[in-house]
Amino acid sequence: MISLVAFGTWMVMMKPDNMAILYALFFAAIVYGILFTIPIGGADMPVVISLLNSFTGLAAAFGGFLYDNKIMLTGGILVGSAGTLLTLVMCKAMNRPLSNVIFGAFGASGATGDREMSGNIKDINVSDTAVLMNYSKKVIIVPGYGLAVAQAQHVIHELEMILEERGVSVKYAIHPVAGRMPGHMNVLLAESNVSYDKLVEMEDINPEFASTDVVLVVGANDVINPAAHNDPASPIYGMPILDVENAAHIIVNKRSMNAGYAGIENELFFNPKTNMLFGDAKTVPTKLVAELKAL
Ligand code: TAP
Repeated sequence: MISLVAFGTWMVMMKPDNMAILYALFFAAIVYGILFTIPIGGADMPVVISLLNSFTGLAAAFGGFLYDNKIMLTGGILVGSAGTLLTLVMCKAMNRPLSNVIFGAFGASGATGDREMSGNIKDINVSDTAVLMNYSKKVIIVPGYGLAVAQAQHVIHELEMILEERGVSVKYAIHPVAGRMPGHMNVLLAESNVSYDKLVEMEDINPEFASTDVVLVVGANDVINPAAHNDPASPIYGMPILDVENAAHIIVNKRSMNAGYAGIENELFFNPKTNMLFGDAKTVPTKLVAELKAL
């Protein structure tokens, strides 16, 4: 990057006529672009795409100045500012500075946040889950990255409709960085025609967990990890999370005890109120729907 800045400055000052020098700068910029993006983890890509998008806007805006073109300038400013804002909002929601997204892998500071977990893991089967949900008054579904991977949005909507028919109130708790891109869960659930007023943002749903009978977590992990509140060594410490531990029963559907994106264990899984419902996020809710229909 330093070489590129020096090269560009030299070109502006010396004004060389040789086009080959301009092509060399162009080539060096491409190489730098590739080297800049390679080390960034796959899951941070949405942030980087948004950042690069804002750069294209800024470049267009500078082009507008150069060519005295107001349309280019206005378009560039719009794209540049929207991209910059989106990047900052995503970083804020993950409670990580942009520099950490770009220059460091999660936990690169040496703080792994991997604490010794105490307590037992309790698992639950599909029929017990169906009974528990069927006789609840209020259920909150927490969707996460695993729901997107399994493409389970349609079956989750079916589950919601069956529960609603039985008089159970069902809402979805939407964490701003659940999944891998902004609005990931909203888009997925909208695809299966979930009513928009059932998607409740984190700040609004958090006070509701205390009055909830069952929280069904489907393929989410980091966004419900209490380490964000109570483990200063954790890489997610300080990130706002969904306070699902306040609910009466917590059922977590995921395939194993594997970590989520942040790569850390989740003490919520060892909470006496938590039951693990192991299995794929599409297969298990499909069985759950069948069990509920049979009740
Ligand atoms: P994660 O913490 O990544 O956890 C997803 C969980 O889903 C995993 O623990 C995995 O456990 C489970 N899973 C994966 N495939 C599954 C399947 N087919 N069926 C059932 N479960 C499955 O997800 P999250 O809670 O949504 O959190 C998002 C994370 O991504 C945050 O750390 C956030 O900072 C990060 N991030 C988000 C964004 C945006 S903008 N949304 C951008 C960059 C990074 P098993 O392997 O045990 O099944």
